[in-house]
Amino acid sequence: MGAMVYVNGEIRDAASATIPVFDHGFLYGEGIYETLRTYNRQPFLFGRHMRRLRHSAELMALPVPYSDEDMLARVQETMAAHADRGEAYIRILLTRGVGELTYNPAACPIPTLVIIVKPFPGFPEKAFREGIRLSLVSVRRNHPQALNPMIKSNNLLNNALAMQEAIPRGGDEALMQNQAGELVECSQSNFFLVKGGAALTAPLSAGLLPGITREFVMELAREIGVPCREARLVPADLDTADEAFITGTTREVTPVVAIDDRKIGSGTPGVITGKLLAAFRSKVETVRA
Ligand SMILES: Cc1ncc(COP(=O)(O)O)c(C=O)c1O
Repeated sequence: MGAMVYVNGEIRDAASATIPVFDHGFLYGEGIYETLRTYNRQPFLFGRHMRRLRHSAELMALPVPYSDEDMLARVQETMAAHADRGEAYIRILLTRGVGELTYNPAACPIPTLVIIVKPFPGFPEKAFREGIRLSLVSVRRNHPQALNPMIKSNNLLNNALAMQEAIPRGGDEALMQNQAGELVECSQSNFFLVKGGAALTAPLSAGLLPGITREFVMELAREIGVPCREARLVPADLDTADEAFITGTTREVTPVVAIDDRKIGSGTPGVITGKLLAAFRSKVETVRA
């Protein structure tokens, strides 16, 4: 089943939704986005996604002329226009808007708001049961002083180039380093490894997207008594890690069992990863329609 798309107040099906060519989101990749999913038809952690959207917007001086309530109402309207009544994938995009061919933001007084809603069947359970493989790619994550990864930007060329390297190598995701060679995150998810019973993930200062699921899982870990902290991670840590996993809105907590041809730990999903996934799943169960 296809998508329903909201564009500046109108909802159409995917084939007939359009954006003007002079939209700076199209011309320059000048825009931001959020990906959400529903549990029991409720957009999960909506408030946190809106907080991050506003922060992304601030970092590129983009006005967000919508309250959280306005935005939620538009998301719900788009969901209601979709014939599917199962769980939904929701992508909210806000671009600089339409204007002349110039980088001057004053040329675009009205940002363009797009909301894409499509069915979300969930990732195949096999990935959670058996784990996935990452590729450690040569494409480095954008330097924060060049294009800050804190901005969840529509300009995803850095991420796409990383996946172009991972896919032919059989990687389900691309694991990326920063300019200093530290492991930071994946192309569409955050990365954790487990050592000596503690879950470790790179600090935000290393240059990565502050994942909503990353933050949520760190809180959950504290709740269930799993030590979890930020730490500087380098590729050599992959050889001594007991477990690894990725987090993301659509990936939840997905075990990682190999990096290219190197096994992580025993090469099977780890116990701590399993505990965090179970805790995550029981938390989302409490979201009621
Ligand atoms: C580069 C990057 N890192 C991490 C994530 C995970 O973030 P979240 O948990 O908010 O979905 C994403 C999600 O799209 C991403 O694009």
